[in-house]
Amino acid sequence: MHILASKLSKTILILLVGGALAACSAPDETETAISTDAPAFNTSLDVTAIMNLVLEPASDILWDSGGWVLDASGYEELYPTTDEGWDYVRAQAAVVVESGNMLALPGRAEDNDAWMIYAEGLSEAGVLAMEAAASHNEEDFFQAGAQLYSVCTACHQAYNPDILDRFDDED
Ligand code: HEC
Repeated sequence: MHILASKLSKTILILLVGGALAACSAPDETETAISTDAPAFNTSLDVTAIMNLVLEPASDILWDSGGWVLDASGYEELYPTTDEGWDYVRAQAAVVVESGNMLALPGRAEDNDAWMIYAEGLSEAGVLAMEAAASHNEEDFFQAGAQLYSVCTACHQAYNPDILDRFDDED
């Protein structure tokens, strides 16, 4: 009789805990339902606009600020030569970091799979470029630019091979 009573009280305890958990999770479900109804982000700029107006201008500045060019007057170094110059390219790299997040927003992301990996890759390359700019490290800055370029082309190849051709033509 004693054993039965203690088993019974255990069962009641489990039921009580279960009930308490159910009560706790109920408000969460309501919150989720509310937040998916409300538009949390302004995504009126589509992916094409993000590319043309945000990501490409910032990336072009990064690529134009790394490496060397050979012209009539010989080799010209493209890297910034002043603190202000490095600060400026670091700010452009920050735009690239955040562009990764912009592309990952619901309403812009084309899927929850490879697209997200490429978007994250943009941010990662941008962070590397920011770090290299902060330490004025030319070699690391150049490598970050190369990594960035490979993310652009990989995503275009996966999602819009026509863009890949046009994008390469423009260089
Ligand atoms: C997460 C995927 C993704 C990444 C990463 C990405 N793009 Fe794009 N990009 C696209 C898609 C998709 C389009 C085609 C958009 C459309 O439908 O017009 C595009 C189009 C473009 C276009 C052509 C826009 C037009 O007018 O048609 C340019 C330029 C461009 N991207 C530049 C870049 C550059 C530069 C980078 C890297 C710094 C980059 N993109 C990285 C997905 C990506």
